[in-house]
Amino acid sequence: MRHFLTLNDFTKDEILEILNLAIEIKDELKSGNIKYRMKDKSLAMIFEKSSTRTRVSFEVGMTQLGGHALFLSSKDTQLGRGEPLKDTARVISRMVDMVMIRTYKQKDLEEFASYSKVPVINGLTDEYHPVQLMADYMTMMELGKDKEPKVAYIGDGNNMAHSWLMLASKLGFELRVATPKGYEVNDDILHTALQNAKVSGAKIVILNDPKEAVKGCDVVTTDTWASMGQEDEKAQRERDFQGYIVDSDLMRLAKDDAIFLHCLPAYRGQEVSEEVLESPQSVIFQEAENRLHAQKGIMVWLDKNRGDK
Ligand code: CP
Ligand code: NVA
Repeated sequence: MRHFLTLNDFTKDEILEILNLAIEIKDELKSGNIKYRMKDKSLAMIFEKSSTRTRVSFEVGMTQLGGHALFLSSKDTQLGRGEPLKDTARVISRMVDMVMIRTYKQKDLEEFASYSKVPVINGLTDEYHPVQLMADYMTMMELGKDKEPKVAYIGDGNNMAHSWLMLASKLGFELRVATPKGYEVNDDILHTALQNAKVSGAKIVILNDPKEAVKGCDVVTTDTWASMGQEDEKAQRERDFQGYIVDSDLMRLAKDDAIFLHCLPAYRGQEVSEEVLESPQSVIFQEAENRLHAQKGIMVWLDKNRGDK
């Protein structure tokens, strides 16, 4: 049985297989030719952090696959009152066919998965946001930006930056990450990405200069300066991230036909300008919609590849 905890657990071929399945499932939906590939199956969705896109896309995705999704907030379950993860995992996974978790520590997600009888999907942790990257790359495929792309990630060395590192290093494309000093990506994750890059041929460039990062790129992306759980650092981060806004001046350094991606929610005037967000180069809503399709691909693939644990 396979879980979907980090892209590092998947080969290039597996990632592309899931994405091609997602594109097929999207086509089926758009042409009204829906197949109920997970009929009568249940997905438990455990949220320890807020969400708009992840909740809606997984819940609607399961409905469209002929199954059912349950929204479980840690506040309203016994998890919030201290029931151990390992007990929760063993109880829930005897009742449902798949679990999605959005939590803080990747370690907790891994612990849950190690006790689960069913596939577990990472719906975002402090370290990674792999389902988002599947939607991002699916959008790149749809727009023809998957042919040896150069991607620039500008901003915080956070879960999104780490997931871009994993995706680029697995698929073998060029990724430039520009963060302010003191907000660099995690050393261990970078090390893993550099190891992967030796196999895939990816070029990973770590910088502190957004202009250098964006020059000649096909894709420019960024993320909030203060992630969930970092609310207290917001004011300090706003000061430290000055000069890291993706605005029209910065976008002009990328290729003329470069696209702009953002996982959302976006904070206008901070990591990205209103002008860039609303520009024709911005494909953020196609990207957001692809959360639905990409995750259906992930769920169907995991369900298909499920043996008995
Ligand atoms: N991009 C993303 O995961 O959005 P939500 O926090 O709204 O789920
Ligand atoms: N880095 C952000 C992504 C939100 C989807 C966070 O973790 O809050």
